[in-house]
Amino acid sequence: MPTVLDKGPLASIIFEMRTWLRCMLPYTPYVAPFYPTPDSVINRVLDLTSVRAGDTVYDLGCGDGRVLLAAARRGARAVGYELDVELVRDAVESARKAGLEHLVKVVKADAASADVSDASVIALYLSDHGNSRLLKSVQATLKPGTRVASFYFPVGLPGWQERLLTKDNADGLNVYVYKAPSGQQHKEE
Ligand SMILES: C[S@@+](CC[C@H](N)C(=O)[O-])C[C@H]1O[C@@H](n2cnc3c(N)ncnc32)[C@H](O)[C@@H]1O
Repeated sequence: MPTVLDKGPLASIIFEMRTWLRCMLPYTPYVAPFYPTPDSVINRVLDLTSVRAGDTVYDLGCGDGRVLLAAARRGARAVGYELDVELVRDAVESARKAGLEHLVKVVKADAASADVSDASVIALYLSDHGNSRLLKSVQATLKPGTRVASFYFPVGLPGWQERLLTKDNADGLNVYVYKAPSGQQHKEE
């Protein structure tokens, strides 16, 4: 079955527009439309967070699973949350095709409900508001010190700017890497 991006230019544009529109609906759980991270940036995200075998990488809003796959190719376990059923199907299918389904898990659910207690790395490519909403929601299970990389959008929550390890701009596209603060630090700000 073709992926959402393989159905031709018109179908891809319509799909993209649909993902924009649903972000604008009142009370929507969607905090970002679907835009895949470029491959060069994915490698940068994984290099900057030193992903290797033994890591567990979460992608909150995993789209078609390309970050999960790249992490699994490095031997890491990868867990993605995604609301869109077609993207979930694409992510599961590409893990299967790559023979990496033993390392990749895709959950069709609001990433705000994720238990990230076993994450060593979290990858984000959402929006300013999406970063804040999802990180606030998973804060209770987020271990202090977890490496958190956000493509394009910084984390604007109190206590995070001080925990910025790197702002990498290698090809003109920003990747922000943080060490997650403790819940206490969060509250004190
Ligand atoms: C900009 S795309 C990034 C996709 C992928 N992480 C990547 O880097 O290629 C954001 C994705 O987050 C998904 N998304 C938005 N809000 C979500 C939520 N609350 N829970 C789960 N997925 C969500 C969208 O459907 C979309 O696929």
